[in-house]
Amino acid sequence: MDDNWLITETTFDPQQLHRQETVFTIGNGYLGTRGAFEEGLPEARPATLVNGVYDAVPVAFTELANAPNWLPLAISINGERFGLERGQLLHYRRTLNLRTGVLSREVRWRSPRGHTVDLSWARFASLADPHLLALRCHVTPLDFDGEIELRAALDGHVDNRGYVHWDTIAQGGADNRIWLHSRTRASRIDLAEVATLIVQAGEATNISSTDCSGCPTLVARGRLRQGQTMVADKLVTLYTSREDAAPNQAAERHLDRLSAAGQGYAELQAAHQIEWEKYWAISDIFIEGDDQAQRAIRFSIFQLLAAAPRDDTRVSIPAKALSSFAYFGHVFWDTEIYMLPFFIYTQPRLAHNLLMYRYHTLPAARRKASAGGYPGAQYAWESADTGDEVTPVWVPHRKDGSPVRIWTGDQAIHITADVAYGAWHYWRTTGDDDWMVDYGAEIVLETARFWESRVKWNACWARYEISRVMGPDEYHHTENNNAYTNGMARWHLKTARETLGWLQNTRPTLADQLVARLDLTPARLARWEAISEQLHIFQDPSSGVIEQCENFFALKDIDLGTYEPRQQSMQVLLGIEGANTQQVLKQPDVLLLLYLLSDEYDQRAKKANWDYYAPRTDHTFGSSLGPAIHAILACELGMPDAAYTHFRRAAQADLMDVRGNADDGLHAASAGGLWQAIVFGFGGLKVTPVGWSATARLPSHWRRLSFHFYHRGKLETVDLTPEQDPQHRGKAGRPERGDETQDAQMGSKRQSGLADNRRLVQRRMSR
Ligand code: BGC
Repeated sequence: MDDNWLITETTFDPQQLHRQETVFTIGNGYLGTRGAFEEGLPEARPATLVNGVYDAVPVAFTELANAPNWLPLAISINGERFGLERGQLLHYRRTLNLRTGVLSREVRWRSPRGHTVDLSWARFASLADPHLLALRCHVTPLDFDGEIELRAALDGHVDNRGYVHWDTIAQGGADNRIWLHSRTRASRIDLAEVATLIVQAGEATNISSTDCSGCPTLVARGRLRQGQTMVADKLVTLYTSREDAAPNQAAERHLDRLSAAGQGYAELQAAHQIEWEKYWAISDIFIEGDDQAQRAIRFSIFQLLAAAPRDDTRVSIPAKALSSFAYFGHVFWDTEIYMLPFFIYTQPRLAHNLLMYRYHTLPAARRKASAGGYPGAQYAWESADTGDEVTPVWVPHRKDGSPVRIWTGDQAIHITADVAYGAWHYWRTTGDDDWMVDYGAEIVLETARFWESRVKWNACWARYEISRVMGPDEYHHTENNNAYTNGMARWHLKTARETLGWLQNTRPTLADQLVARLDLTPARLARWEAISEQLHIFQDPSSGVIEQCENFFALKDIDLGTYEPRQQSMQVLLGIEGANTQQVLKQPDVLLLLYLLSDEYDQRAKKANWDYYAPRTDHTFGSSLGPAIHAILACELGMPDAAYTHFRRAAQADLMDVRGNADDGLHAASAGGLWQAIVFGFGGLKVTPVGWSATARLPSHWRRLSFHFYHRGKLETVDLTPEQDPQHRGKAGRPERGDETQDAQMGSKRQSGLADNRRLVQRRMSR
């Protein structure tokens, strides 16, 4: 196996325990499981998060409830319990195989009494069968004959950072099975896990069950001779009442079906791997000349694919994916602006699911708008199962517990335009008109109505304005006329009018219905036009520099160099209000606008704003959302070294823990940003409805970059080397007869085209 598919750890470092649990997270879009060990450790933070299983929590309203732990498999040899905290560790290697989605570990361990044993584990959350979790363990005594005991449990004693969400409803064990049926305390979601243990080898292996409260356990005991190997497979099925009214029966039946069909660990893993292969065939990026970058992008793609809902359009991808408790499993703009493009271009069916989440949460967005006194719909800054606002308003300060005001829920209103931007981006790239007609147009138009009354007319200056907001740079709150917010609102109102015009041309009856339902009168549309022309952005006409918000340039200027070296964010060093009064940015704000609305700004403006804002941005400890965007702009501005420096920061967010907070969970937005940095930055991909082009802007040591993407239903390939003519071009977007259409891609014609491309990718990868 090519090392560039493997994330490997060769020493066990207890100091890095939580960070590595994050890195070794596995998932299948239905759930994610952190890389905690099967045998447990006192300080471990095991977590399995099933998307959509939210339960009430103080302060943050609701959070993904850590599901009963399916991992426990304790091993004792001759009465001594194996654990990394005791005995002697003679060999250790843990590997996440990104290609197959299997996490494995090998250990040689000497017990305190001197018995040496080889142990290995492999686990996966099946991508072929979302309700199946599987774990295999090998035990080989090296210098003794003796008794091996395995205890495989379903552990209901789980919490989220001390907060308990579950009551046990029923549990039990019989006939080599155990089951645990739990219910969330407030949201009353039922979750059932059923497990079986299949043991091969070992004399007189017998399996019984014990029923410790909240933790049913299967116990297998057998004797092994020196050099003999015991193989134990733990298969777990998991359902919730979100999919089945009787999840306990569903989980039982599922396990019955597997055993009736003779599906053991090996067959189940094979099916899981085949499914991963299908995703990789389209989504992989191939980089020659930079192994670290190669591994980092595959890791990012893996984690995005592992978190993306497959069969559920009522959930999205939380900011920390399904990897930890931070941000409570809430969904932010991270999804639409940072992660969604990867899906739009390589897995449009999954992009569609993510956007449907926003469609289903439109009623909550209407409630938020109406609570603020506005018509239309306003998306929540932090969103969960219903889509209602779940941003905490006050949180206790990390150090002294004093209350800290969180402004984003009230002020980060740009998310409403960000969601519309995501919907439009999907439509423009995929050409999925049916989706736009049935769902997207309503999102774009209903949310446009919010902006219409959120703006205020300033008669003195004869312009529209938006006051009291927070832009992407969250070091500043209560800004007036934040450039990003105003720019995106302008874009949104303009796009809404164009979308309606398109709808009226293509589906007049539906357009009429929407016009009547949303009250899109000519006067309203005229007002949208006026606002999009007169909503103010402060831009110096001579230099092209845009002022981040009104009076930003009057704030105290800062030289970040004078704070180096530092290990903390500028907000920690200056304090929340201190940072608010200085020209220091957490993450790109104006620069993000210039990236998203790239066609509206020329190179001169981009360069001028780069020169102003990049040096004032807290790249190292600000936000992980920033580096990828800086990398793309630096590519565009012909600054390859700066581009690569920023790219590496994004690439290392989790794998090297550059910010020291990977223990809190994956940086999913950064993972999506990394994909964009490669494809749109180094690959220079530009897509319009009528065609596409790619331009090699490779870092000097990259010898090749190739990737696939879908453009209006047609799978395209970009293969760039530094020497060749740097430009690739694609012709007009509408697929020709015989090409895969978007519809066909979602339907039956799909197979043949993809299979060909798959072969192509496999050839490429096997070089
Ligand atoms: C960033 C936000 C982001 C959130 C969740 C914050 O630190 O500033 O832009 O949405 O994290 O990832």
